[in-house]
Amino acid sequence: MRSCEEPRWGWGRCDPSPILFLSLLSAAPFGLLGEETRQVSLVVIPSDVGPPENLLHIRAVGTNSTLHYVWSSLGPPAVLLVATNTPHSILSVNWSRLLSPEPDGGLMVLPKDSIQFSSALVFTRVRRLGENRGEEEKVHQIGGTEAWLFEFDSTNSSDTAAKPPGKPYPPYALADFSWNNITDSLDPAALNATFRGHPNHDPTRAFANGSLAFRVQAFSRSGRQAQPPRLLHTVDTCQLEVALTGVSPRGNRSLFGLEVATLGQGSDCPSLREQHSIDDEYAPAVFQLDQLVWGSLPSGFVQWRPVAFSQRQRSRESALPCQASPVYPTLAYLLPQSPIVRAFFGSQNNFCVFNLTFGASTGPGYWDQHYLSWSMLLGVGTPPVDALSPLVIGIMVVALGAPGLMLLAGGLFLLLGPKKYSEYQPIN
Ligand SMILES: *[C@@H]1O[C@H](CO)[C@@H](O)[C@H](O)[C@H]1NC(C)=O
Ligand SMILES: *[C@@H]1O[C@H](CO)[C@@H](O)[C@H](O)[C@H]1NC(C)=O
Ligand SMILES: *[C@@H]1O[C@H](CO)[C@@H](O)[C@H](O)[C@H]1NC(C)=O
Ligand SMILES: *[C@@H]1O[C@H](CO)[C@@H](O)[C@H](O)[C@H]1NC(C)=O
Ligand SMILES: *[C@@H]1O[C@H](CO)[C@@H](O)[C@H](O)[C@H]1NC(C)=O
Ligand SMILES: *[C@@H]1O[C@H](CO)[C@@H](O)[C@H](O)[C@H]1NC(C)=O
Ligand SMILES: *[C@@H]1O[C@H](CO)[C@@H](O)[C@H](O)[C@H]1NC(C)=O
Ligand SMILES: *[C@@H]1O[C@H](CO)[C@@H](O)[C@H](O)[C@H]1NC(C)=O
Repeated sequence: MRSCEEPRWGWGRCDPSPILFLSLLSAAPFGLLGEETRQVSLVVIPSDVGPPENLLHIRAVGTNSTLHYVWSSLGPPAVLLVATNTPHSILSVNWSRLLSPEPDGGLMVLPKDSIQFSSALVFTRVRRLGENRGEEEKVHQIGGTEAWLFEFDSTNSSDTAAKPPGKPYPPYALADFSWNNITDSLDPAALNATFRGHPNHDPTRAFANGSLAFRVQAFSRSGRQAQPPRLLHTVDTCQLEVALTGVSPRGNRSLFGLEVATLGQGSDCPSLREQHSIDDEYAPAVFQLDQLVWGSLPSGFVQWRPVAFSQRQRSRESALPCQASPVYPTLAYLLPQSPIVRAFFGSQNNFCVFNLTFGASTGPGYWDQHYLSWSMLLGVGTPPVDALSPLVIGIMVVALGAPGLMLLAGGLFLLLGPKKYSEYQPIN
């Protein structure tokens, strides 16, 4: 069933004809999910002291539990995820402490003993790989947690699995970005908001017409987004879409990547797991789901399909592979500090880091339309798992059922047919 090229990232070019043919059979309704509901709210917490800062609180209240997602662009973009076993837990912010050099205790979820799970993700840098051999990647600054944007040149790297996939350009440190006012993009009814940022120092004016956006989406019911990669979401999750648009690349075939830091549980880093499926109905020709899991389930998880898109119109033609590196422990001082992570978790933490690289030197790329987007789902509890879709069940019926039916029909014919002819009806 999987006769695709380049199965390495789970993205390949498959012959679409069987899918077109079988999609006729996929009109059955989806009844996959239970109906647990949560009251989900999205609010910006205004600061009462100091300069205004973006702090977005998603609170999802269930019968016996509350989930808190706290997103901020204070320092590098970061999110805290906290699960509590009461419907009454609240987020408490002490702004003067949060904005101080020692933010420990500036963010709390109360009551503290209701917390069942907590962790954080920090988007430290955008990695850039390019062909300019003169420039060395800069060693990054001292700090806490962060994400970076990287750019690479892939012109000469035919082996896309090579590490790194090209010559790195200096990364963009996301802690040194300035971000829009999250209040302006907040849609409390649609449960979404966008952090849009540019580097504070942009000597090459690469971001003159461009930006990096983190679009956050919460959900009040289970389902799928209309756009690929159409990750299955529940009320326990929220989705992040990272989009780089209009930024001038350094090379003709620059690749971009993202460095993500997270907290380990104890001394262990969360593990990265790959799930394979024969089902690609919701993300055509992507047969893999990557999952980062903190400890044994149910805990927290991050889930994504190893695919990014080089056009707003997301399709198989604009799909890029997304490669994830293993997750390594790292030293906190090598990462820029995230005040919200420090405020919630204090300074004694084990950080882990991994890289995502979007695209390859062949196929579509950022260079097509100066556009790149990638989505992930962040959640607590048991990660949503795709059940076999009606399409695949349809394939099975056709592949297995039809010959079976023919056999059965043939058998019936053999049994009934000759009998009918041999039956002698004596005329009385
Ligand atoms: C965003 O705008 C609101 C009012 O529109 C203002 O109260 C708040 O301080 C602003 N926040 C930031 C981070 O600029
Ligand atoms: C909530 O807790 C009560 C008592 O502990 C339990 O009976 C009930 O099944 C729980 N509800 C859910 C949705 O977990
Ligand atoms: C907030 O933190 C500051 C500095 O640590 C402290 O003086 C103040 O009492 C705290 N405010 C509240 C409401 O706890
Ligand atoms: C690519 O490889 C060719 C042949 O090995 C070499 O001549 C050229 O300089 C390389 N280009 C870059 C940008 O490294
Ligand atoms: C929020 O969702 C609505 C409806 O899907 C969409 O029109 C809007 O652009 C989204 N806003 C942001 C900030 O993502
Ligand atoms: C930004 O866009 C304007 C108008 O489209 C164009 O004139 C300008 O050259 C662009 N700047 C960069 C740095 O790409
Ligand atoms: C990019 O491509 C153009 C034309 O295809 C070429 O002239 C230029 O040298 C290339 N730039 C780099 C950095 O390879
Ligand atoms: C991420 O990529 C950067 C630049 O390519 C590299 O310095 C760093 O070691 C990588 N980290 C991991 C965990 O692979």
